Amino acid sequence: MSESTGSRSSAHGTSSSAQTRLTSIVSHLRHSSTSHKHKVVVTRNLGPDIMPLLLDHPDLEVITWPEDRVCDRSWFLANLPGASGALVMLSEKINAEALDKAGRTLKVVSTMSVRYDHVDLDAIAQRGVKLGHTPDVLTDAVADLSVMLALMAGRNSKETTSIVQNGEWPNFNWAPFSFCGPQLSASSFSPTRTAGFIGFGRIAQATLARLIPFGFTHCLFTGNPTSNSSSSVASSIQAKYPTLKAVRRVGLDELARESDVVFVLAPGGDKTYHIVNEAFLKQMKKTAVLVNTSRGTLVDSDALIKALREGWLWGAGLDVVEGEPNIGLDHPLVREPRCVVLPHIGSATNESRLGMATLAAQNLIAGVLGEPLPAELKLTK
Ligand code: DGY
Repeated sequence: MSESTGSRSSAHGTSSSAQTRLTSIVSHLRHSSTSHKHKVVVTRNLGPDIMPLLLDHPDLEVITWPEDRVCDRSWFLANLPGASGALVMLSEKINAEALDKAGRTLKVVSTMSVRYDHVDLDAIAQRGVKLGHTPDVLTDAVADLSVMLALMAGRNSKETTSIVQNGEWPNFNWAPFSFCGPQLSASSFSPTRTAGFIGFGRIAQATLARLIPFGFTHCLFTGNPTSNSSSSVASSIQAKYPTLKAVRRVGLDELARESDVVFVLAPGGDKTYHIVNEAFLKQMKKTAVLVNTSRGTLVDSDALIKALREGWLWGAGLDVVEGEPNIGLDHPLVREPRCVVLPHIGSATNESRLGMATLAAQNLIAGVLGEPLPAELKLTK
């Protein structure tokens, strides 16, 4: 959320949850006398820039979770009956239980996220409910952060920033080879640089675009095995970036063996669970870096801890970790000096979050009014 949004939203939410509760109740009362309005449940206050889109909409009765924390499941379920729409965050499981609570009135679920592993797609498709999500508006923010994590993990940022933070810099005179790590960009010592992408959608391709000026020469990616469009993707990428010597769809083993940086960017869910496992990590170059800005479930944390301790790869940059947000100081990945861990902030730019919240609100409104969603995930029954 933007600084301005954050500070203004505190007037509604953080610093005065009583006031937020009042706003929510007033909105509810204002609209509850008119039964033709569509009831929508919103699981987080989206701040003063976005909430008016919903609160001032003449056709909506808006029920907003009044607190500045993850919405209680019991509150969510209790408010769903009779709702035409729900605007939710990653934290809300949209499963048969929630959909059945809402009942037959429910037309749309709009999630303020591009990914939707918290949504039971079969259950939502069977009930004919539309699903809106927020692609594109966060692509650049997540691609920026993916490159940032590759740099941070390669250049030992965790160890070196902690030296400064702990006041230990005076003990470390500049020395010819201290704190060195693998260089992200190509150099005369390493003239080829290979990026490996597990998943090669919008964010992966935007990440590649950022790596071209770093002199990356090869791009490897895994694709959906049932898709036959990979060769056309490869040729269009090759045409777009003529400095690339090769762009190829490969299997996981080759991707692990050849890449200088592996970017994990496939969707979460059963099909990709622990796709980066011990076998994968064992094949990585000792100088390679693993970056995960997708979902924690794609990387087997135990295997990664072992890999980092035993030096199978150089380091890791993680914006997501399985079990998040319950990742404390005692988590072995947090303790690993070559593992940079961030608290799932890939899309956390002012621009991106405002774009996501706006699109989520627009999807919700379109869905309840029976209009085409600006960004609908097409589901098959
Ligand atoms: C998403 O939209 O799925 C992201 O993980 C949120 O930052």
